Amino acid sequence: MRTQVAIIGAGPAGLLLSHLLHLQGISSVVLDTRSRADIDATIRAGVLEQGTMDVLSAAGVGDRMRKEGALHHGFELAFGGKRHRIDLLGLTGKSITVYPQHEVLKDLIAARLAAQGQILFEVSDVALHEVSSTTPYVTFTHGGEASRIDADFIAGCDGYHGVSRPSMPDQAKRQDYQKIYPFGWFGILVESAPSSEELIYAQHDRGFALVSTRSPTVQRLYFQCDPKDNVDNWSDDRIWAELHGRLENHDGWKLKEGKIFQKNIIGMRSFVSAPMQAGRLFLAGDAAHIVPPTGAKGLNLAVSDVKVLAQGLEQFYRSGSETLLQGYGEQALKRIWRAECFSWTMTRLLHTFADHTPFEREMQRAELENIVNSPALATALAENYVGAF
Ligand code: FAD
Ligand code: PHB
Repeated sequence: MRTQVAIIGAGPAGLLLSHLLHLQGISSVVLDTRSRADIDATIRAGVLEQGTMDVLSAAGVGDRMRKEGALHHGFELAFGGKRHRIDLLGLTGKSITVYPQHEVLKDLIAARLAAQGQILFEVSDVALHEVSSTTPYVTFTHGGEASRIDADFIAGCDGYHGVSRPSMPDQAKRQDYQKIYPFGWFGILVESAPSSEELIYAQHDRGFALVSTRSPTVQRLYFQCDPKDNVDNWSDDRIWAELHGRLENHDGWKLKEGKIFQKNIIGMRSFVSAPMQAGRLFLAGDAAHIVPPTGAKGLNLAVSDVKVLAQGLEQFYRSGSETLLQGYGEQALKRIWRAECFSWTMTRLLHTFADHTPFEREMQRAELENIVNSPALATALAENYVGAF
């Protein structure tokens, strides 16, 4: 098999890249180890920045998102028994949309298949070869048969645990920047009406909690937990007691309960691996960087990476120039480091750290008070959240 760009991974980064290239007449084949049903069912991100919406709309995959996604003009910071609204629209002129990642993936897969795009699900033994040459290729097993794709370029969009990053040449020159947090998030999906019109990020001595939503009938809630804990240790009653405790307030607001139909625990890390390109291999999305979800940036970064990468590939196929491609990593990393900084800031502002002294706990509370009392600080937070620059 031969294609122009071989794409490893059918997550948001890989599928969107494939579609953006298709719109420019550039061929690609997408490979994923998982089944289509598995990909469709994985519950992850929820918050889309305006810039992400614009990219998806311009690519012709935004119809359902605009119809079914919920536009949020603000969010709330809860601490000390009170809720404080951050007016995103008023402070920045921008809003965010809550539309689940798996719905974005369904829309992208449908668009790729409608355009006869090639996505090979359930492949195994994926290996990248000759990536420093102008004739790289990928080998893999599909339907029990050994296969090979020859390409001009390989895009590594296979997430944090994928094969692309370890296949980058010059591993000795690779710099990994990493911070692992001593806590995780316990996430649940609940059948109920929304408890709040806007997301609530709560800081509490018992730990962080987040009230998010998926649809008018399904809600997404998280609370800080031990990353090594097991969901089986958490009965529904224990989960509700913990959430009520952390979201307690003095203004009469109440969390709505409902049937919990999914529980999971995720670890939290900040991670950047540079460079993002070597020879004919380019990394994009979680394959190159991870942010803790507190800033809601991961999916948005994956989208901004592939937008820049697609522009570089378009320029190459249009004019033969590699100028944009050569600058891909450097340009992408500027945005990535700022999002890393914001995600780390939100994480440290809102979580409970077991090793904090009473002094450090007061500093954390004072920092939150500063934000909700200073339009300048609230604007800076809002700009970062909506991805205003
Ligand atoms: P992935 O989505 O990880 O896709 C990679 C794909 O590659 C997968 O389908 C995988 O099966 C495939 N793959 C792996 N190995 C191989 C291989 N060897 N060969 C072929 N294929 C392979 N981000 C936000 O922007 N907003 C949010 O609100 C938000 N909330 C989040 C909440 C949670 C609980 C979590 C866990 C994440 C959240 N994120 C959020 C982050 C976001 O989900 C990720 O950043 C996003 O999925 C990255 O997309 P990706 O395409 O780079 O990688
Ligand atoms: C989500 O709805 O899954 C979600 C929302 C906001 C975040 C993280 C996750 O910061």
